Amino acid sequence: MNFMINLINVLYPILSITIVAILLLAMISIVYVSWRNGISPMPASAQARHVVANEVDRISSTGTLVDAGSGFGTLAVHLAQHCPGWKIIGIENSLIPLWLSRFYWRLMAAMKGASLNSITFCNENLYTYSYAEADIIVCYLYPGAMDQLGRMVCNRLTTGSTRIISICFALPGWEPARVITCKDLYRTKVYVYDI
Ligand SMILES: C[S@@+](CC[C@H](N)C(=O)[O-])C[C@H]1O[C@@H](n2cnc3c(N)ncnc32)[C@H](O)[C@@H]1O
Repeated sequence: MNFMINLINVLYPILSITIVAILLLAMISIVYVSWRNGISPMPASAQARHVVANEVDRISSTGTLVDAGSGFGTLAVHLAQHCPGWKIIGIENSLIPLWLSRFYWRLMAAMKGASLNSITFCNENLYTYSYAEADIIVCYLYPGAMDQLGRMVCNRLTTGSTRIISICFALPGWEPARVITCKDLYRTKVYVYDI
């Protein structure tokens, strides 16, 4: 009995310190990559997710959609659940959100019985990804990133039928085909472009 109490007394602080160290490292990693990327993995609002899913449905019932900067995967998982004919690819270069998004999707798939195959989360840079198969690119970034994404996508896309759906930020120099205002607190705008 004494042996067990002594063991717990030794293990408890070691375990606590390990957990705190892991959480601290995870936070440092998120903050560092957010600083490097110029944006944090903040998820789009529920209203914005809803509007994006409606737009995807309106465009087609099947295809390949790339979430450029998928963060914790909440938008990608929402789209997989509400647009079941679509193959979804989430691109993220911040490891902790990427791992959590994979875990979140497995959890949702187990709970709701969704097919695990309809989403792939990749550790990729959204500025160097090919987008060759993308029918729709969805993003929630910031003005500087939209500028870079617009130029890059223009040079790379060859199909001539790709749409970009951007939450909050417009593509500089492009005329949107549609602009939807969400009914959320910030009246977030969702821009739809035919490229
Ligand atoms: C505001 S979050 C959007 C998350 C998700 N798309 C949503 O709407 O809920 C933007 C994400 O883009 C990621 N990101 C920024 N620059 C990136 C890059 N060059 N390559 C890959 N991901 C990037 C960030 O790490 C962040 O997780």
